[in-house]
Amino acid sequence: MKLAVFVSGRGSNLRAIYEHPAHGSSYRVEAVISDKAECGAFEIARSYSTPTYVCCEKREDGTRSFAPASAALKEREIDVVALAGFLKLVPPEILGAYRDRVFNVHPALLPSFGGAGMYGMRVHRAVFESGAKISGATIHLADEEYDRGPIVAQACVDIADADSPEEIARRVLEVEHRLYPETLARVAENNLSISDGRATLKP
Ligand code: GRF
Repeated sequence: MKLAVFVSGRGSNLRAIYEHPAHGSSYRVEAVISDKAECGAFEIARSYSTPTYVCCEKREDGTRSFAPASAALKEREIDVVALAGFLKLVPPEILGAYRDRVFNVHPALLPSFGGAGMYGMRVHRAVFESGAKISGATIHLADEEYDRGPIVAQACVDIADADSPEEIARRVLEVEHRLYPETLARVAENNLSISDGRATLKP
């Protein structure tokens, strides 16, 4: 399975996707695409000799054209898109071309603690302030809204004794790094089925 990973920041999930044994056997990162001209994730991509692309040019009216991203997906013959800390909404032309093949990782248990503006430490602060005793990571299919598509996989983290949002972030990130590559490997092995808007990963 040829994978494109969309990123905006440091790229620790990207690194976990590379470092999983499935990389090179079940899936392979063929393109790393960012809305930023430079970011930590691009350095990781270059260390694996993966082509990097800046996905979206700002138009004069402030909206963004994703034409460069669409061209990169075509050029690299990408099968599946994995969003890993990508902060922009994926536009309909890419979601349409990759129906049920655009995945996202979210650092909480959706459908709670998600949606526009809920990213990075904002998520963990909200979880901490809620007094929740468990948090976790969610892999879901992306759609036109932030954090809304069908849930594919989740893993819980016990945070009952976590004393700060930073501690929650640390525990959740560890789980993301395991869950995301494992899920992508199972997708590559054809273990995902979708019916009536529900996604099921075969055991
Ligand atoms: C992760 O917590 C991910 O769930 C969220 O943004 C963060 C990205 O971290 N969407 P990294 O760039 O993969 O290190």
